[in-house]
Amino acid sequence: MAKTQSAAANGKSYELIDHAYDVVVVGAGGAGLRATLGMAEQGFRTACITKVFPTRSHTVAAQGGIAASLGNMGPDSWQWHMFDTVKGSDWLGDNDAMEYLAREAPAAVYELEHYGVPFSRTAEGKIYQRPFGGHTTEYGEGPPVQRTCAAADRTGHAILHTLYGQSLRNKAEFFVEYFALDLIMGDDGACQGVIAWKLDDGTIHRFRAKLVVLATGGYGRAYFSATSAHTCTGDGGGMVARAGLPLQDMEFVQFHPTGIYGSGCLITEGARGEGGYLTNSAGERFMERYAPTYKDLAPRDFVSRCMTMEIREGRGVGKNKDHIFLHLDHLDPAILHARLPGISESAKIFAGVDLTREPIPVIPTVHYNMGGIPTNYWGEVLNPKAGNEDATVPGLMAVGEAGCASVHGANRLGSNSLIDLVVFGRAASIRAGQVLDRKAPIPGVNAKADDAIMARFDKSRHANGATPTADLRDRMQRAMQADVAVFRDGPTLKNGCDQMSKVWADKGDLKVTDRSLVWNSDLVETLEFENLMINAITTVYSAEARTESRGAHAREDFAKRDDANWRKHTLSHVGEDGKVTLSYRAVHTQTLTGEMPDEKIAPKERKF
Ligand code: FUM
Repeated sequence: MAKTQSAAANGKSYELIDHAYDVVVVGAGGAGLRATLGMAEQGFRTACITKVFPTRSHTVAAQGGIAASLGNMGPDSWQWHMFDTVKGSDWLGDNDAMEYLAREAPAAVYELEHYGVPFSRTAEGKIYQRPFGGHTTEYGEGPPVQRTCAAADRTGHAILHTLYGQSLRNKAEFFVEYFALDLIMGDDGACQGVIAWKLDDGTIHRFRAKLVVLATGGYGRAYFSATSAHTCTGDGGGMVARAGLPLQDMEFVQFHPTGIYGSGCLITEGARGEGGYLTNSAGERFMERYAPTYKDLAPRDFVSRCMTMEIREGRGVGKNKDHIFLHLDHLDPAILHARLPGISESAKIFAGVDLTREPIPVIPTVHYNMGGIPTNYWGEVLNPKAGNEDATVPGLMAVGEAGCASVHGANRLGSNSLIDLVVFGRAASIRAGQVLDRKAPIPGVNAKADDAIMARFDKSRHANGATPTADLRDRMQRAMQADVAVFRDGPTLKNGCDQMSKVWADKGDLKVTDRSLVWNSDLVETLEFENLMINAITTVYSAEARTESRGAHAREDFAKRDDANWRKHTLSHVGEDGKVTLSYRAVHTQTLTGEMPDEKIAPKERKF
C-alpha cells in the first residue's frame, strides 16, 4: 500500500492511500455482489467498496421475488416473459436488453440456487413461484403466470447473504463503510478508478483499476416518501454526471401501489399474488372495473394510477379519504405465515394492523427508478456521440438500479428488478472476462483528476453558508413529491423545474457544521444531497420536456402515448450551474437472435 500526497483547493493537502485492482465494484447490493462474485471467480483482483455493510444494502428489503420462466407451476417460456417485459416497458425498453434478460433469467436463478439461496419449495421440491403484476401467458392473451421465484417474502435478503458469502469464498476484498467521492477520469475519456472516503477513520483512498463497475442503486430518497432505504441517494448517477456523462430516461419513476400509508414501508406485490385485493371506501374491489382481465395483478404503474383516481374521486378510505385498503384477511393464516411472514410483521409494526383480521392502509409510494446511467446489455456505460449512439466509456460499467440498460423502459414489472440485478451483474463479469487485458498495467496516477476530486470534497467539508443540508433536502423532497408524482401536468412540472433550479442555486448557501473527517454524518448527508440533486433536477426537466404519457410518466395534458415523436430515450446532462441539457437516442428495436417473433412485440395499446 503506497502513500502519496494530493493538493486540494485552498492550499490544503489530503493524503491518499493508494490501491490497485483489476476491477473495483462500487456498491454491494444484489447487482454489485453478483458482479463482484463473477469477477472474483475469474481470478480478477476485485475490490468491492460500499458505504454500508454489504448485507445491509437496499436489496435486503426486496420482498416478493425474482422473475424467471422456470415453468415450475405451469407452462411458461422466455418469449412470454420477454413479451410481458416489452409491454410493461410501454415500448420504451431496448429489445436486445429485454431479450437478454428473459433468456438468461432461468440460468441466473439456477446459479443462485446452486450458490445456496434458500428458495421456498413446492411439494415436489422445486423452486416455488408466485404470480406478480403484468406477468402473463400466451403473449398476454392467457391467464396470469406464476413466474416469480420466492424465498417467502424475504427473497432479496436471502440472495444478498448468499452472494456476500460466495464473494468472500472467492477472495473478493471488501472495503466497508467507504463513501465513493468521484470517478478518476483520464483525458482520453477512460475511467481509471475512484476515490473514496473511509468513514470510520477519516482516511482517503484512491482505487486505481482497469474497470470500475457502478452498482450504487437508485435515488428514491429524492422524494419525501419512498420504500427505498435512506442510503438510496443516486451516488453513481452523481459521479457519472460530474464526469460530464449523460443520464438516461430519468423522468420514469415508479410508484409501488402498496406502500404502508404514513411510513412508506413496502408491502410486497406478492401479497396480491397470493390472493390479496384492494378496496375503496365503498368496499368495492375497484381494480375489476379498470382491469377486467388482470384486476389487482395489472402492472404497478396502472394500479397506482387507478388507486390515485379512486382517492381523487372521493372514494379513498380513512378520516381524510386519502388512502386505500389492501385485504389479506380472507386468506388462510397458515399461508400468510408460510409465504408472507415479513409483511405480517411490517403491517403490525408500521400500521398497527393484524393482517389476518383487518385490511392494511396503503398508498402508491416511490419505489424504483427506471432511468439511470445509460448502458448496453453488457453493462458498459454509453456516451452517445454524433454518428455513434452506442459509443461506450472505456473502463466503466453500471449495473442494477443505478444503470439503465434499458430493460424496464418506462415501467418495470414487479420481480424484474431482482432478476435485472443478477442477470446484468453476471453479464458485466462475463464481459469483463472477454475484454479485460490481464497483462495490461493498471492505470497510473492521475494527479490532476485527484486534485479536482479532493477540491470538491474540501469545498463541501468547509461549506460555511447559512442553510443546513437537511433544510434544502426537505425542499427538494417536497417539491419532487408534489410536482413529479403519479400524475403530472405541464404547470406542475414547470413549477417543479423552477423549484429544483432554486434549490440548486441555494446550494451555494449550504452550511456544514462538522468539519471532522471521522464519522461526519453531516458531510456524508451533504455529499449524498449533492448526488440526489443531480438525479432530481434531471428527472423533473426530462419529465417536463416529454409531452406524452408512457408507463410511469402519466401526463394529464398529454394523455396518450406518442410513438411517432417520443419512442426514444431521453439523455440529460447537468452542468455545475444546474443547467440541464436534453438530447435523445433511439430505442433499440432489434432483438438479439430472431427467436422472438417481431410481430409479437410490435407496439400496441396497453390493455389489461
Ligand atoms: O412488491 C415487491 O415485492 C417488490 C418487488 C419489486 O419491486 O420487484
